[in-house]
Amino acid sequence: RLDAVKQQPELKLVVISNRIAPFDPNKPQTGGLAAALEPVVERSGAVWIGSSETRGDGIERPLPLVPTGAGHVARLDLPAADHAGYYRGYSNSTLWPALHSLPDQMSGSEEDYGSYRRINDFIARAAFDVRDRDAFWVHDYHLLPLGAELKDLGVERPTGFFLHTPWPTPDVIECVPNHRELMKSMLKYDLLGFQTSWDVDNFLACLRTHFGLESKDGVVTTERGQTRLQKFPIGIDPEQFAAYLAADLSPAEQEKVSSLLQKFQGAKFAIGVDRLDYTKGIDKRVEAFNELLKKEPQSISLLQIAPLSRADVDEYQNYKEDVENAINHVNDDHGTDKWRPIHYTNDSFSQAALARLYREAHVGVVTPLRDGMNLVAKEYVAAQDPEDPGVLVLSKFAGAAEDFNEDEALLVDPNDPKEIADAISRAANMPLEERVKRWRSMMDKIESYTIHDWSADYVRELDKNHVTVPADQCL
Ligand code: F6P
Repeated sequence: RLDAVKQQPELKLVVISNRIAPFDPNKPQTGGLAAALEPVVERSGAVWIGSSETRGDGIERPLPLVPTGAGHVARLDLPAADHAGYYRGYSNSTLWPALHSLPDQMSGSEEDYGSYRRINDFIARAAFDVRDRDAFWVHDYHLLPLGAELKDLGVERPTGFFLHTPWPTPDVIECVPNHRELMKSMLKYDLLGFQTSWDVDNFLACLRTHFGLESKDGVVTTERGQTRLQKFPIGIDPEQFAAYLAADLSPAEQEKVSSLLQKFQGAKFAIGVDRLDYTKGIDKRVEAFNELLKKEPQSISLLQIAPLSRADVDEYQNYKEDVENAINHVNDDHGTDKWRPIHYTNDSFSQAALARLYREAHVGVVTPLRDGMNLVAKEYVAAQDPEDPGVLVLSKFAGAAEDFNEDEALLVDPNDPKEIADAISRAANMPLEERVKRWRSMMDKIESYTIHDWSADYVRELDKNHVTVPADQCL
């Protein structure tokens, strides 16, 4: 890891994302992006700009910079008038389902796109004020046009973007209102980073289908200049994860962890940790337990941790109800006075508390219908006991399945409860030797490409972007 940090160019960065990490090991973690960027910003000395928990009046003010590690964080009060259209509307009711290839779940109003653009513009203006940095690194689907706003303000420094979610096929993107304008604005970035080759290929297919644009060696040329497209599969910090396992928990967290573990009293259990989101396949996973327990009663239970997410979006409320009804059915049909098939909680846990729970679980069940990467898959592996590791059951539609092959994880179709049930049964009964072999191979991959390698690679690539394109090479 130190090598990777050393190799990272001395680029001073402005990192921009909607959500910012809590920067407190005892506070619940807030999703994949925040968990991934926290160590990067703390070490690299970047300025990280994102949204605060409060809404503002839209008047521009000096950046509220707060030091953290070697870096700084600025939490902006995003304008109240546009926030719902931006976050609940266009980002999470329109883009989120489309990016996960679930266009039937799309909703939102016509005005949402205007709010989305105005908030992107507001954040770009705030970021533009940071003059002493070499490059901008923008993250995720909330901020697709932010690079274009920066360039329109006159920024000439390298500007890159990384998408934490998947990017779908051209027919799905076509369902997104204003998709052409949005994609055009993305071509103002110098570097577009994606999680997997599947995402890069889809984006290139969209450019071909919707604009007739071709790429050469991963580079697309327009009148503005060149945009490089590349995959950077995000990783974790395995050393940090080992430290979590060794560290003391706060008394409150310790109490939460112990009371959960007590429910299993040493019996076999699988663990699922997902924001309560319809892309995560929790309902199908519960059905899988129903199938499994019909065949093998009381063989294994499930600990499902599902912190509430985006609860003001209708689809999320409906999903919560569906999941909870399904869990109640399984518990009624297969439970006894002494044994409950599924323990379910909406509580959030710190990374350190999760590490302990992962370690005790015999099976990690990560079965999203579609996912950018899914860091829970990597964290589950990193938390295992090398002498007696658990087994990962992984959706073949999670980005992590491009990293872990079928000799490592048990890959499943997340829409097929019977297939998931068979995989969980196989995982729970797998001989030690096979478990160790699979685990070692995944762990080697996790250690050989950490979150620090990911950011160093990205920044190195972004650093190459001070290129002026000769006019005769423009399409
Ligand atoms: O890429 C998905 C993501 O932005 C990740 O940061 C995280 O998994 C989740 O969505 C966070 O969602 P929200 O900020 O809406 O809680």
